[in-house]
Amino acid sequence: MRIAILVSGSGSNLQAILDERAADPAYPAEPVVVISDNPDAYGLVRAAAADVPTEVVAWSDHPDRSLFTAAICESAKRHGAEALVLAGFMRILSAQAVADFPIINVHPSILPAFPGAHAPEEALAFGVKMTGVTVHFVDEKVDHGPIIAQEAIAVEAGDTPERLHARIQAVEHRLYPEVVRAFAEGRLVVEGRHVIWKEPES
Ligand code: GRF
Repeated sequence: MRIAILVSGSGSNLQAILDERAADPAYPAEPVVVISDNPDAYGLVRAAAADVPTEVVAWSDHPDRSLFTAAICESAKRHGAEALVLAGFMRILSAQAVADFPIINVHPSILPAFPGAHAPEEALAFGVKMTGVTVHFVDEKVDHGPIIAQEAIAVEAGDTPERLHARIQAVEHRLYPEVVRAFAEGRLVVEGRHVIWKEPES
């Protein structure tokens, strides 16, 4: 499956996917472009180092969300992408993206708890004892689509948002490439809000 990976920042999840692909010649997802809304995203450097084409679609160059989304979709299509993989992409896309592509996202909490851009901070402030990682399909609502995989992480005494997020990211870096593999193999079947994992073909 030819995928466009969308980033806004560090791109450590992008790196995890690139590393998995480099380690396994049979990895079924091929990143054909990395697109960022942020020209300074380190994810662009990671993509270039792996010889993956990059594009910047700056938020400020587009008068509204639907034109911004159209530019992202146009870029992904031009590179032949069949699906979008969001990896720390901090902009909300309009419904056109969901109509044009299957899209998956990784989120640093157990959804539906703590949607939005500050999940580790909000989980700590709320006093939860467990939080974690969610990988989900993207639908028209933010951090809402059918859940593909979740993994819980215990909050520890003395955690700061940074320390907690580092443990969350360690899980993301293992889980997200695995989910992208199953996604690219067509093994994720969506039935309403439920995602059924089909067994790999042997
Ligand atoms: C990750 O924690 C992800 O869950 C959230 O944004 C962060 C991106 O990190 N959506 P990175 O850019 O992949 O390092």
